[in-house]
Amino acid sequence: MSFPLYAPAEEHDMLRESVRALADEKIAPYAAAADENEEFSWDVYKALVSADLHAVHVPEQYGGAGADALATVIVIEEVARACASSSLIPAVNKLGTVPLLLSASEELKSRYLRPVARGEGMFSYALSEPEAGSDAAAMKTKAVADGDFYVLNGTKMWITNAGVSEYYTLMAVTDPSAGPRGISAFVVEKADEGVSFGPKERKLGIKGSPTRQVILDNVRIPADRMIGAPGTGFKTALATLDHTRITIAAQALGIAQGALDYAIGYVKERKQFGRPIADFQGLQFMVADMAMKLEAARQLTYHAAAKSERAMHGEPQKDLTFLSSAAKCAASDAAMEITTDAVQLLGGYGYTKDFPVERMMRDAKITQIYEGTNQIQRMVMARQLLK
Ligand code: CAA
Ligand code: FAD
Repeated sequence: MSFPLYAPAEEHDMLRESVRALADEKIAPYAAAADENEEFSWDVYKALVSADLHAVHVPEQYGGAGADALATVIVIEEVARACASSSLIPAVNKLGTVPLLLSASEELKSRYLRPVARGEGMFSYALSEPEAGSDAAAMKTKAVADGDFYVLNGTKMWITNAGVSEYYTLMAVTDPSAGPRGISAFVVEKADEGVSFGPKERKLGIKGSPTRQVILDNVRIPADRMIGAPGTGFKTALATLDHTRITIAAQALGIAQGALDYAIGYVKERKQFGRPIADFQGLQFMVADMAMKLEAARQLTYHAAAKSERAMHGEPQKDLTFLSSAAKCAASDAAMEITTDAVQLLGGYGYTKDFPVERMMRDAKITQIYEGTNQIQRMVMARQLLK
């Protein structure tokens, strides 16, 4: 019996090396300033576009790099190792465009994926609202048909990269009597009349990625901007998350790896009691546990990514919903523990902005909250197990 080896391909390892080199040179130097100044870094965006890493998942037929789901995970992981905020460029470009890849007409895919692949505009994903976070189906934003147009009114909350993205996949109610089956998905453009943005949220972490409300005031868009058929928007939104919770897992892995690498370097240099603190078994066991948790979460994430890729190629994967929630939950919980321990390993220095691990700890926290809180991931997993 001869089966393919159970491992990432050599190309995946080469990709990791090249993204790490680019991230060390062109992204890491901006990470502390992006956090401190709470500014989106257009320099990082340009560096990612030049290397064709800003929306690496877009298929070649739409002018993209055509990276598979595992390659996309590796890119996000390596960018997040240097700067978590910057990793939201490839991650949210994927989140915003997977609804099109899954459900849009060829014409709509071609119209919107090509400019994203060329780096002319980013995509965001607008599901959440002030009163509809975990209970996403409780959204109030409405889209009312008016001839060959829809008129949209409402407020989307917490939208990552709002204001810097040109395009938004936005879910709205088209039939208020039909519950989740009355929700439809649309492409809204920043340039559409009536679209505006709230002030930047003042956050604990990922400060280099703007999070803002998207406010829709009588936004009139052509009906052909609907993604898929009327009433299929909620399913498309959730099917998208089956693929993209894996990218948040990747972001968490990258943040955790960055913290672990920094802490290992530090404990080998720092001396107390006349020797490097790495000599103390109490710290050695911490480092071992950190690396063990990280590698376990990584393997789960890569397994989920392989399933995601197969599903994108039309091979139904019954356990994708479970695995993507499991990967996001495991990787984000691991990242929170690992970054907290990294701060501990640096002692008082770790608690200051003179070292990067406190930023990594603050950045890690969001991975337990967005794309569904980890309570919701556990609910999704339990529903899959008990159905
Ligand atoms: N794929 C496709 N369809 C799905 C699905 C999936 N994975 N899961 C459920 N559905 C379908 C169901 O079959 C059902 O359709 P039918 O009525 O036709 O059978 C419909 O969707 C409604 O499903 P539920 O009854 O299960 O819906 P619910 O309201 O009870 O719960 C939920 C859904 C799992 C709680 C969902 O609301 C959820 O995931 N909430 C968390 C919100 C979230 O993750 N937000 C992420 C925002 S994006 C973000 O945060 C961005 C960022 O990180 C950068
Ligand atoms: P709530 O739903 O109010 O939850 C509050 C608490 O109750 C949580 O601990 C939650 O786990 C718990 N809880 C709720 N329901 C249950 C239940 N049934 N069982 C057990 N516990 C429960 N959304 C987008 O659409 N697009 C984006 O780009 C985006 N980016 C974001 C960026 C940031 C920085 C942040 C903070 C959020 C972003 N979100 C985005 C929204 C994010 O997905 C929501 O914040 C998240 O889904 C939780 O919703 P909520 O904040 O309303 O919390």
